[in-house]
Amino acid sequence: MATPSTQPASATAPATLKVPRHIGLIMDGNGRWAKSRSLPRAAGHKAGVENLRRIIRACVELGIQHLTIYAFSTENWARPVDEVKGLLFLLDQVLDNELQELHREGVQIRHIGRVDGLADSTRRKLESAVAMTQNNTRLVLNVGFNYGGRAEIVNAIKQMLADGVTSDEVSEELIDRYLYTAGQPDPDLIIRTAGELRVSNFLLWQGAYSEYYAADVYWPDFDKNELLKALEHFNSRERRFGKTSEQLV
Ligand code: IPE
Ligand code: IPE
Ligand code: MG
Repeated sequence: MATPSTQPASATAPATLKVPRHIGLIMDGNGRWAKSRSLPRAAGHKAGVENLRRIIRACVELGIQHLTIYAFSTENWARPVDEVKGLLFLLDQVLDNELQELHREGVQIRHIGRVDGLADSTRRKLESAVAMTQNNTRLVLNVGFNYGGRAEIVNAIKQMLADGVTSDEVSEELIDRYLYTAGQPDPDLIIRTAGELRVSNFLLWQGAYSEYYAADVYWPDFDKNELLKALEHFNSRERRFGKTSEQLV
């Protein structure tokens, strides 16, 4: 990629800190956060949404250009019906209550994932959030809702076949263009909260050379300090992309 994948952080971060252009975020641990407080899982999801607002703002302040959040996976439909309903309701609430503020802050909202399974009213809200914010340039926020990395690749293949793409034309660049994240840089850093060390079907293609960071805290407790810790770790990593260390100097 021709453009650099890092840039100096804005004023609120240590002067030497370079921030990644694109961060992926697996927001995990809402249920355990609630359980540790003897609260229902729904309370954890609510606290998770409140934290998301803070972290989006921190990313805007830090000058991060692309943030991809994993909010609901294609596998999460298998959760108890009431929990699924609660998560769908939270998406509606976020779209109702946060859109204006996000728009004011210059956030461009994009949806990554399938729209099947979502209520028509939710679909319309998502579409109008995307349309309303499409010219914002401060931060691109990819909302992974009903997102799965494998489903995304299946979708890309189907679209390519529908477009009559021939085998000679298939290339990594072409596949990139058929993904939900078409036109955006790959994530430089993928953060997962709640200590789990797995990908859970998130950005399978785009994460080929992402640096991974596991935060020990549950998502509702992942604050700006935790984000800065993740960025410091990222700054200490040597990204070799298959080369040797010596080739990088
Ligand atoms: C992440 O928290 C939110 C979603 C996956 C929707 P979890 O609900 O997975 O929380 P844990 O992993 O059970 O603690
Ligand atoms: C991954 O978390 C999905 C989201 C954060 C939306 P899960 O809690 O669903 O993942 P697993 O089941 O532990 O792998
Ligand atoms: Mg989980």
